[in-house]
Amino acid sequence: MSLLELSHVSKWYDQAGERFYAVRDVSLSIEAGEFVAIMGPSGSGKSTMMHLMGLLDTVDEGEIRMHGIPTSQLTERALSTLRNENIGFVFQSFHLLPRTSALENVALPLWYAKVPEREAMERAAKALVRVGLNPEEKGRNAPNQLSGGQQQRVAIARAIVNAPSLILADEPTGNLDSKATDDILALFQSLNAEGTTIVMVTHEPHVGQHAKRIIRFRDGRVAADEPVPQPLQAGAGVSV
Ligand SMILES: Nc1ncnc2c1ncn2[C@@H]1O[C@H](COP(=O)(O)OP(=O)(O)OP(=O)(O)O)[C@@H](O)[C@H]1O
Ligand SMILES: [Mg+2]
Repeated sequence: MSLLELSHVSKWYDQAGERFYAVRDVSLSIEAGEFVAIMGPSGSGKSTMMHLMGLLDTVDEGEIRMHGIPTSQLTERALSTLRNENIGFVFQSFHLLPRTSALENVALPLWYAKVPEREAMERAAKALVRVGLNPEEKGRNAPNQLSGGQQQRVAIARAIVNAPSLILADEPTGNLDSKATDDILALFQSLNAEGTTIVMVTHEPHVGQHAKRIIRFRDGRVAADEPVPQPLQAGAGVSV
């Protein structure tokens, strides 16, 4: 069974009497263990697709199955449970709470899930260690006391703290310099090697080459869907 299965998915916006398709009749599957890059020109529907895959937005037509469960008819409450148990989100602009320590930012999803305080802090500390940050040191800093690359590490720690099967990342390296970009990509590759499925939007061809498969969008449709030849996969084998 696929982790995600999209069948004939469309998402549209009606404006001034005209129907505009942000995503049009997309069918594809994401299997457990994949590392997929989504590429394509600005406006081609990549972010819309991430919102649909992440169950943050609902389809207008078609069906999305997560672990075999059809999601189009689920209540908002059921969707949010499915999201919280299965998906970690990473964004270009980090989306961390200001004036809140890195450790507390990472613990937040656990507090929402009613995990007891002590256990939440322990798990948050472990997640920070996993992304290469010392909880006793950088963990105490607020986001504005951290570099961009460190902030994105904190965001990734928050994304993995619930041990999700899927990470959805929308241009996660879009605000980072090349060194921090390489570090984040190596981190994704090692999380993927441990079994986490990753779907990542990027504009940059060399970033896409770190994935195992590239899906290209154009005008809301899948224009190409191809594996990255393994000997060419950038940074393969690097561990963090
Ligand atoms: N709420 C909305 N109302 C109307 N049109 C929308 C809305 N949200 C997105 N769109 C349109 O849907 C299309 C796809 O948008 P989307 O954000 O998915 O593109 P993208 O591929 O992520 O682009 P970028 O690379 O610039 O981030 C765009 O043409 C956009 O204008
Ligand atoms: Mg986008």
